[in-house]
Amino acid sequence: MNYIGIDLGTSAAKLLLMQADGKILKIVNREYPISFPKPGWSEQNPEDWYWETITGIKELLLESDKSQIAGISFGGQMHGLVVLDQNDQVIRPAILWNDGRTAEESEYLNQKIGKEVLSKYTANISFAGFTAPKVLWMKKNEPDLYAKIHKLMLPKDYLAYRLCGVHCTDVSDASGTLFFDVKNRCWSQEMCEICGIQKQWLPKVYESYEAVGTVKPELALELGISEKVIIAAGAGDNAAAAVGTGTVGDGSCNISLGTSGTVFISSDKFGVDQHNALHSFDHADGSYHLMGCMLSAASCNKWWMDEIIGTQEYAKEQEQISKLGKNHVYFLPYLMGERSPHNDPNARGTFIGLTMDTKRADMTQAVLEGVAFALRDSLEVARALGIEITRTKICGGGAKSPLWRKIVANVLNIKVDVLENEEGPGLGGAILAAVACKEYASVAEAAEAIVKVKETIEPDPALADLYEKRYQQFKQIYPACREIFEKLQ
Ligand code: XUL
Repeated sequence: MNYIGIDLGTSAAKLLLMQADGKILKIVNREYPISFPKPGWSEQNPEDWYWETITGIKELLLESDKSQIAGISFGGQMHGLVVLDQNDQVIRPAILWNDGRTAEESEYLNQKIGKEVLSKYTANISFAGFTAPKVLWMKKNEPDLYAKIHKLMLPKDYLAYRLCGVHCTDVSDASGTLFFDVKNRCWSQEMCEICGIQKQWLPKVYESYEAVGTVKPELALELGISEKVIIAAGAGDNAAAAVGTGTVGDGSCNISLGTSGTVFISSDKFGVDQHNALHSFDHADGSYHLMGCMLSAASCNKWWMDEIIGTQEYAKEQEQISKLGKNHVYFLPYLMGERSPHNDPNARGTFIGLTMDTKRADMTQAVLEGVAFALRDSLEVARALGIEITRTKICGGGAKSPLWRKIVANVLNIKVDVLENEEGPGLGGAILAAVACKEYASVAEAAEAIVKVKETIEPDPALADLYEKRYQQFKQIYPACREIFEKLQ
């Protein structure tokens, strides 16, 4: 049988058709717009997600045997607030994971309610992009719309709702709301009260690999698939990516270089770091994970290439880079503020160290390096907790660049396993669907059978040493700029 994995990303829905043995038959990309109504705000229209997903499924199945489709599931951008009224109409555009408008509400939760209380109820503290401060923002700034809320959901759950009519979510995605009890894998009554969330608004919670329903008959007819096709709960994109890269089992690591950048560490046991600098979330395999998330990763490179130097020739541009480890230009990749570990929506992108001999290639290099240094910031928090990471998988659009992979391996000074397929969340979604359909007994068994390492990049000691010195300098730039960033607001 075959399975569809849908990666509901920030720039596009990436759909993937997978055979039961893991062979990828086809991939389709369907872009949709994102709007930035004010600096630091970011929104999308859930109808666009649905439309592009349905169009994408049709394209995906064009030349294939539709009767072979057994299951569909998702890896979805996390934290986004989707609200529906009593007629199931979307009340306002979705407020996304990288939206920083809720600085005040997040501050209220962390300071007035208190980080200890938040951490006790949810295993996390508040970050501007999380869902809870968004609900508080709506309550204060859009009371008329807030009064209409009948259902609340996360982005991929909107797709599941439209596909099978079940108001559902999964534990990994629910973990990023800040009204979910991560340790006990259920909604937190206390946090719902604090945030003004009514219990009946909330979706039913499933494990990521569980079946939640079957495709609606009229949709099955439109798509030419069976009414028995199972919709599985799916996962937040990072947990799905971890499944798709085989990052299951205690202590394994995955780095995602997508619009966001994440360091994902899978764990058998529930755990919280003392300062909550890393997110403590449920994993899609039934266990837990720690995660550092930077808000702009591959998107920094995209911004630099598309908007600033105006080229689509990413590889050609990177060929000009010749002084790895010796660049005197630094870049702070905080184009949307920053989440881990600084938790600062006011932080901004910054070049520093420019001189008259600075070339365009030095700045391109600084962008790639700045993202790697910021990933290392999260890895250092994990190392400080005594977690030893010596190798990682890598996925996401940025992972397609051999140069960027090499920079990451040397800046973090760990081995980087490159996979046959770097479509992490889409593949993870398809694997979760296959597990829901009992093709495999567990997520771990499926990942073991399906995910294959193609190549391993070993750090070069001399280059890692140069990067170690540069990282020590990079680390000092943000603290020196923090007050200025605040004053610039
Ligand atoms: C994770 C996060 C991002 C989004 C990107 O906490 O906010 O990785 O999920 O889609």
